[in-house]
Amino acid sequence: QTGLTTLDQGFVNTASTKSEITYIDGDEGILRYRGYSIEDVAANATYLEVAWLLIYGELPTPDQLGEFDDKVRHHTLLHEDLKRFFSALPHTAHPMSVLSAAVSALSTYYEDSLDPHDPEKVELSTIRLLAKLPVIAAYAHKKALGQAFLYPDNSLSFVDNFLKLNFGNLAEPYEVNPVLSKALDRLLILHEDHEQNASTSTVRLVGSTEANLFASISAGIQALSGPLHGGANEAVLTMLGKIRDSGESVEKFVERVKAKEDGVRLMGFGHRVYKNFDPRARLVKESADAVLADLGVNDPLLDIAKQLEEVALGDDYFVERKLYPNVDFYTGVIYKAMGFPTRMFTVLFAIGRLPGWIAQWRESNVDPKTKIGRPQQLYVGPDARSWPVDR
Ligand code: SDX
Repeated sequence: QTGLTTLDQGFVNTASTKSEITYIDGDEGILRYRGYSIEDVAANATYLEVAWLLIYGELPTPDQLGEFDDKVRHHTLLHEDLKRFFSALPHTAHPMSVLSAAVSALSTYYEDSLDPHDPEKVELSTIRLLAKLPVIAAYAHKKALGQAFLYPDNSLSFVDNFLKLNFGNLAEPYEVNPVLSKALDRLLILHEDHEQNASTSTVRLVGSTEANLFASISAGIQALSGPLHGGANEAVLTMLGKIRDSGESVEKFVERVKAKEDGVRLMGFGHRVYKNFDPRARLVKESADAVLADLGVNDPLLDIAKQLEEVALGDDYFVERKLYPNVDFYTGVIYKAMGFPTRMFTVLFAIGRLPGWIAQWRESNVDPKTKIGRPQQLYVGPDARSWPVDR
């Protein structure tokens, strides 16, 4: 059923989309994937294991996971013509724009398997996207660096293959750092789904028109790119860097945020649903110190982030507005320590969120009885009026 609530901004928000996938309690800071707490999932599972859970509803058996992993590994190659697609874009292109455009282009190679109501074709598109999005992401990164694209290495795990595609090169053998690999797998898990956020709602809405899965994911990537949504992890690092480089005290910056000077916001803080701590932010913060220490990185930006959090959480302005760190507040410092450039951070968010987008798209669009999405409106414009005779 679709309810209507009128927000204090006068916006009408279609209140309810039914789903069995993810549960959030914003007041209690609870997040569950198919009933399992984010804490348990992050501590015990792998990215592909969670992808299976979100898409199929149960934890996979060892055989199911092995077959799934094997299928993904053996669908990582991109068509050689598609690799030339990247050369049409400037090296300054933002990787999120490259990602969305390349996913849309990817679908042109699979015209025979795009039918959203054919279960076999949906399975194939699911595997193809899970396998190829990380490769496209790594190519966007290499493109920006002006470095050669590597071929995927099917002997490596999902995350290790992604790391090698990003940080390996043709001149040197690449040794995966297990600390980096485990930390990235965990961060991807923390992003895998989050109920009806802006980008997931976009994926469901586009899919409801019977547009194919690639088109829906391409649209979701664009929605995620905004700085109020997934783009926030990039904006947090920019904000921390400006504070460091300007020498401005954290307290002074917070005062400017409270004064809403030039619309400045404490990026990585606040949330549409969490009016308490985002459980993902807590898990990321817990691991930040350990990951940076294991990687031998000492980054003053992490200290600035911690100071910002301490000052904000002690200030009524933020407490009254229930503004707490969200998932984007600490992730960037870890991504930076891993060696990713800031403009790749939201791309990492997109790879993390892909299984959730796919699961939500399948839940709402594989069923032929699905109605096309049509967000409702509360009309607040002028009443009927006659055309001016003297015009
Ligand atoms: C993600 O939906 C999801 O689940 C998203 C996500 C996911 O996993 O998919 O969790 C991922 O997008 C997390 C959010 C990342 N975005 C940011 O960190 C950007 C900074 N945060 C905000 O711009 C803001 O908090 C939002 C957009 C996240 C939420 O905005 P709301 O709930 O609509 O809050 P609002 O804009 O109505 O603000 C309410 C008040 C205002 O002050 P007053 O007008 O009452 O004086 O709080 C203030 C705002 O100015 N406010 C902030 C603030 N966020 C809200 N003030 C300073 N810094 C902030 N970050």
